Amino acid sequence: MAKIGINKMGFYIPEYYLGLDDLAGVHQIDPNKYLHGIGQVKMAVPAPDEDVVTMAANAAKLILDDMTPEQKASISTVIFATETGVDQSKSGAAYLTGMIDVSPNVRAFEIKQACYGATAGIQMACDVVTVRPHESVLVIASDIAKYEQNSPGECTQGAGAVAMVISQNPDIIAFDSQRGLYSEDVMDFWRPNHMQHALVDGELSINCYLNSMAEAYKHYRENGGKSLNELPWLCFHQPFTKMAKKAYQHLQTEFADEMADHQDESYTISQIYGKDIGNTYTASMYFGLISLLENYDGDMTSQQIGLFSYGSGCVGEFFSGTVQPNYRRGLPTKEHKSMLQNRERLSYQNYERFMYQTKDDARGTIEYPAVTNSAFRMGGVVDNIRQYQAVEKA
Ligand code: HMG
Repeated sequence: MAKIGINKMGFYIPEYYLGLDDLAGVHQIDPNKYLHGIGQVKMAVPAPDEDVVTMAANAAKLILDDMTPEQKASISTVIFATETGVDQSKSGAAYLTGMIDVSPNVRAFEIKQACYGATAGIQMACDVVTVRPHESVLVIASDIAKYEQNSPGECTQGAGAVAMVISQNPDIIAFDSQRGLYSEDVMDFWRPNHMQHALVDGELSINCYLNSMAEAYKHYRENGGKSLNELPWLCFHQPFTKMAKKAYQHLQTEFADEMADHQDESYTISQIYGKDIGNTYTASMYFGLISLLENYDGDMTSQQIGLFSYGSGCVGEFFSGTVQPNYRRGLPTKEHKSMLQNRERLSYQNYERFMYQTKDDARGTIEYPAVTNSAFRMGGVVDNIRQYQAVEKA
């Protein structure tokens, strides 16, 4: 059977961050709670003239610029996964067709199911490519994680986008055909239409996550999936990196016989980027996968990775894949590292201004000050129409 999986992967993060030690200072708590208890060091903060569409366009541009005209022409479908949608009707993907270099002959649409959206998009993309192997699919996950100011969730916030091309004979990872699924109607985390930030029952959300993972893994095994023994590397949805540790420990408790050979390294390398970015909701597990592939010192070729994707509400999916020989070719690692290294640390006051001003309530006619230096920005709103702009580089 032909291999199908991720051929290219690129991410975008905003140029600004808040140090969680500064947030702890403002909250008057021991910084170690955030740095070690939660496992987050920096929070990526979008500029006031960025949103999920501009972040997605920036991530997509990074991989599209490196593709041949033939590769770009093979993209038949653009799937935009987000839970930070900018419109109730028009999809982020429809905006993107006017911003990035894809053919107008594509189907472009948006998917939502909390942090699970990108995985839903990827599974759909694999089905498209299975039926029509000459096609490829661009899946983009883009989110801004936002909680109420001074709430327990605030320290887990973050922002970013991951763009992926799903194709036959992929460069990066080929997925196994087995999947394990678990869905349940729970109110662990949600964002009503009238609210700018998510509501969450923190403890319930952790329990739902862990339960979904165990159930999805059992289902994956029932469907003939590999045992954890055969999956030395694990990538979890990581809303904060301590959550991935809890997930790992839960597998050790629930499936002890299959976890004896695992080392902490099995999951900690996938946390390196996330610690400095924060929750990116539906992009989060894919930041973890990129982190593992780009930060492992040796050669990952032929390594088997188990992946657990979780979206509150809730849907969990366990799946797996094998790293391909040309995986480094599919990853713009230099650009990723440069983005992470060349960010500006915000004062708490500027973080507050960037994150909590009413920009995402954009209505009527407003012009946004130019702040971001990235390739795309949102210039404002005219008669309730969002104005996206490509930024000319000097
Ligand atoms: P909290 O109540 O502030 O934290 O909220 P806590 O008191 O439970 O402490 C957290 C940890 O810090 C504990 O460790 C403490 O012991 C430790 P743990 O027992 O968990 O191992 N701690 C310290 N460590 C070192 N030095 C210290 C210190 N003090 C305490 N001085 C909570 C934590 C995660 C609940 C909160 O941040 C929250 O509500 N977050 C948002 C919800 C969330 O991320 N849930 C995760 C599962 S749901 C999910 O992943 C889906 C999601 O991504 C959304 C989607 O699907 O769209 C969220």
